[in-house]
This record gives sequence, structure tokens and C-alpha cells, in this order.
Amino acid sequence: MYTLAIETSCDETALAIYSSEGPIGDVLLSQVRVHSPFGGVVPDLAAREHTRNLLPLLDKLLKDTCFNLEKLDFISFTLTPGLIPSLVVGVAFAKSIAYDLGKPLVPVHHLEGHIYSVFLEKPVEYPFLSLIVSGGHTDIYVVWNFGRYEFLGGTLDDAVGESYDKVARLLGLGYPGGPIIDRLAKEGRDIYHLPRPMLKEDNLNMSFSGLKTAVRQLIESHKDCRKEDVAKSFQSAVLDVLVDKVIKAMELTGIRRLVVVGGVSANSELRSRFKNLSETIGFELHIPHPRLSTDNALMIAYAGMERFKRGITAGDEINPEPNVPLEAFGKEWS
Ligand code: KG4
Ligand code: ZN
Repeated sequence: MYTLAIETSCDETALAIYSSEGPIGDVLLSQVRVHSPFGGVVPDLAAREHTRNLLPLLDKLLKDTCFNLEKLDFISFTLTPGLIPSLVVGVAFAKSIAYDLGKPLVPVHHLEGHIYSVFLEKPVEYPFLSLIVSGGHTDIYVVWNFGRYEFLGGTLDDAVGESYDKVARLLGLGYPGGPIIDRLAKEGRDIYHLPRPMLKEDNLNMSFSGLKTAVRQLIESHKDCRKEDVAKSFQSAVLDVLVDKVIKAMELTGIRRLVVVGGVSANSELRSRFKNLSETIGFELHIPHPRLSTDNALMIAYAGMERFKRGITAGDEINPEPNVPLEAFGKEWS
């Protein structure tokens, strides 16, 4: 079985061809240069870039893989969550190809794609905990099986990736902030005590907007502070919260198998903190390769293939939604 997967939920235009045996090829075009003057993603510009880039990218993918579209069994695409202008372009592209080839459409939830990015490397036994840390989400789920997700807790305000991007902007570092702060923190010292929001609370809720405000106050009151030290102190606060909440989730559920996914899971200190934790307190840890942590179309293809195998397809009346909760996604089609 073969699928073409389309991911345009934010500012990466990504396509992949995937077979039930594994990946055939994928392409990705980042829009970082378009958005960086604005310090964040501008939805209308993102949509225009997706429109500009999808067809040339498809051409490249087909040339690279020598694949004939006639062989496709279905089209997978990200339906939700994401920026509506961006999603609309990908969904319209998916519909046109499906219509032209007479093939079914398989909508995928972007977060389900992130969770299953680890399966592209190695399947994980159920049940497991999933910490999703991206530009738009910071959530902890129990994954009981494919399609069965239980939300345990998450951020009440900014997502972790969003707070990386906002702190980078405060430091005048450029966009996206996550990889820049990751690099700078390696040269920095954890010398500023920043708040660890909601750490003491006995639940899995999180909050990162106060932390960003604390960084702003720190920069204003310490005009001579080194950016490296601010980056390191900020990152330590974020990771203390994430580690604490994951430990609480393990205590609550008794599940000692964790996947950490989403763009922020590319962070080098996050990876080493969770690796050390798994060795110290003993649990199974899976974090995808950094290339699969950030948005890509292979993860959408994998989740699409699992949905198609279960007979889940959608009619061409399907339309993008800004934010359908993962645990509710697709229930009406199953
Ligand atoms: O999953 P993703 O590619 O897109 C969304 O679904 O949001 O995540 C993007 C986020 C951005 O906020 C970016 O700054 C962050 O992931 N990010 C990182 C790193 N690489 C990307 N954050 C911290 N350290 C990194 N190395
Ligand atoms: Zn994402």
C-alpha cells in the first residue's frame, strides 16, 4: 500500500511517499527566511509560500523517488490543528490530487503524527506516555492504543516552543528561537533563578507565560547579562518543569514507558536530561531523531497508513479545523 502525505499546518511545506513497508522518500521546505524578519510565523505569508512551493516540491519528490502517482492507494494530509490559512492550502492540494486520481482521503491529526514519529524508527509497546512539546502544544497523554488517547494535562497558556521563540525575540536572537537558545545555552551558566511555574501543584497542568515575563524582567533589570546565561537559566527552568510533570504522570498512571515528541524534543539538553532520568529512575524512553522531532510529512504518512489500515477515510466535504482535541479526532468516521 502506498500513500502521499501532505503537511502544511504551520511554516514547513512537507511531502512524503510512504509504503506499508516503510518510507520511500520525503521533501521539506522551511519558510524560516520568510518569517524571521517578523520574529514569528505570519499566517497569510505561510499560506502563500505553501501555494508557491507544493507543486515544485511534488515534482522533486517524484523525480527523486521515480514514483508514479498512479500507484498511490490514498492521500494522507494534516487536517488539524494548525494555522487555518496554511491548512487550507494543504487540504485543497490533497483534495485535488485525490479527485484527479480517484483515491480516498485520509485526514490526520498533527499531534497524532508527532506521537507516531517515533514509530518510524521503532514501534513502541502500548500503553505509553507521550510528552508533546512543540510550537503550539505542550501536552501529556496516555496512548492506550492507536487512536485511543487520554489527555492528562498540559499548558494553560504558552506552549514550550512558543516560549523559546518569545524568549529568543526578547534576547534579539532571531526566529525560530528554540535551536538558537539550545546552542547558546551550551555556553551559558544557570545563574539566574527563574520561576518553575506550577511545579508544586499536584497535577499535570503547566504554564510558561509567567516564565517568559520573568525573563523579560531579568533582561530589563540586568542590562549587562550574558545572553548565554539567560538562555541556560531559562532552559533549566523549562526542563525542571517538564521532568517534574513527567515523573508525576508516571506516578499517577504507573506507566513507565515515555515518548517525547514535537519540535522542542530536538533540544539537546532535553534529550540528555530525559536520558539521564530514564537511567536513574528506570523507564523506557523513546525520542525520535531531531529530523523527525520537528514538523515533517513522514510522521503524517505513518499515522495516515495506520488510519487507512483501520478503514478510516473521509469524504471530500472534509475541511480544516484550527484545533480539534486529539482525543476527539476522527471519532465520527470510525
Ligand atoms: O513541532 P514543530 O516543528 O512545529 C509545531 O508543531 O509547532 O515545533 C516547532 C517549535 C518551535 O517553537 C521551535 O523553536 C522549537 O520547536 N524547536 C526547538 C528546537 N528545535 C525546534 N526548541 C528547543 N530546542 C530546539 N533544538
Ligand atoms: Zn508540529
